[in-house]
Amino acid sequence: MHKVRTGADDVHATAYAGRWVDRPVPKFAIPAQGMDAEAAYCLVHDELNLDGNPALNLASFVTPWMEPAAQKLAAETLGKNMIDQDEYPQTEAIHERVVTMVGRLFHAPHEAEPVGTATIGSSEAIMLAMLAHRQSWRDRRAAAGLPADRPNLVIGADVHTCWEKFTRYFDVEPRVVPMTEGAYTLSAADVAANVDENTIAVGALLCTTFTGQIDELAEIDALLQGLRADRGWHVPLHVDAASGGFLAPFTRPDLAWDFRLPSVRSINVSNHKFGLVYPGMGTIIFRDRSDLPSELVFHINYLGGDMPNYSLNFSRPSNSVILQYFNFLRLGRAGYARIAQAMVDNAQALTEGLLATGAFEALHDRETFPVVVVRATDPEAHDVYALSDRLRERGWIVPAYSLPPNAEHVAVLRMVVKESFSRDMVDLLLDDVRRALAGTAVARASAPPKHARVQPVC
Ligand SMILES: Cc1ncc(COP(=O)(O)O)c(C=O)c1O
Repeated sequence: MHKVRTGADDVHATAYAGRWVDRPVPKFAIPAQGMDAEAAYCLVHDELNLDGNPALNLASFVTPWMEPAAQKLAAETLGKNMIDQDEYPQTEAIHERVVTMVGRLFHAPHEAEPVGTATIGSSEAIMLAMLAHRQSWRDRRAAAGLPADRPNLVIGADVHTCWEKFTRYFDVEPRVVPMTEGAYTLSAADVAANVDENTIAVGALLCTTFTGQIDELAEIDALLQGLRADRGWHVPLHVDAASGGFLAPFTRPDLAWDFRLPSVRSINVSNHKFGLVYPGMGTIIFRDRSDLPSELVFHINYLGGDMPNYSLNFSRPSNSVILQYFNFLRLGRAGYARIAQAMVDNAQALTEGLLATGAFEALHDRETFPVVVVRATDPEAHDVYALSDRLRERGWIVPAYSLPPNAEHVAVLRMVVKESFSRDMVDLLLDDVRRALAGTAVARASAPPKHARVQPVC
């Protein structure tokens, strides 16, 4: 959210010494007159140089680079609105193929009728899944003549902020299981202690945002199956595979985390993470059509034809779906497997280099995900916030943050090793870490409160 600065009269002073722009350009009011396209381009382009360098950004999971053919397709499809299914039927056909390919990657069962849709990212996908599960829970309660006024959602403190956002925006009680030092994931015992007949779903993670680990998915699945058999509670398990959904199928193909687990009724993934497409693309898949109550799907006819729609927003660019299709064709399963393994190997090299300094211990799952999360072995000697600042001076964006309650005294550094981060880059980063370590005993003047709850960038 930004303040609307109604009185602001800041200007871009005359730029390019009058070559293209010969008058000050207001920054907070639409200029009275326009300017040459090249001039506007330069003004905006040059200002954006102040942003961080995406190639050195280890904070974000989101794809910073696609190859030129993909960029060409993106430019060609920017002007097509995904929602106009009747006008752009082939885009819609590709949307269907992409959803199907993702569903099959997650072992959507033959014997059911899996359904899904592309979204703007995992946050929208999770909201859509939870709205569906809340509605199904209400319908079941109504059919049984039971009250449906106190829905709750069981999640771990390891979840991304979008989960708590859902509970607050859509009036569902969040049952957030706190972390403790050394236990940063959601266990079946945690779920058992919190679940009841008013639980609309359990949300569990394939790759946790804070520490790059896996919740106890198989055990939670077994617990929920047991509750169904013993008590008649129908509690769906939703797997948040935002980051892990395009990794585990390739790095751990035998790990049953997806629809192979019977309680898993829905899965989200951020295609703009390890689906390797630019930002603006996620997917939600439901195990069966019955998991998405039909009253939530809108049938729109005013763009021509019947367009079933389940989304939070309406218009959206179609290029991210097109780019995902491009990547599926371009890379194939073998390409994804190769890239996933290269990223995990590079992350492993980074982890080993960090551990070799003696300054860190690792928290992440080293086999499955290229997400490196370390804490200082001696936080008095090595302040991760100061280290993060020192690395920033060299251009590296490596966030330091404290873990959620009750592990807020644990401060970590997280480095997401993406496809664009080569082994050479790993070595360069390690050189800078080693150099910076020498100076980190001095706490920085502007250090945030050590136990502040800082949500890492998605
Ligand atoms: C586990 C998890 N879930 C959900 C999200 C939100 O994803 P998106 O940015 O695609 O909305 C993230 C972002 O990093 C995440 O790590």
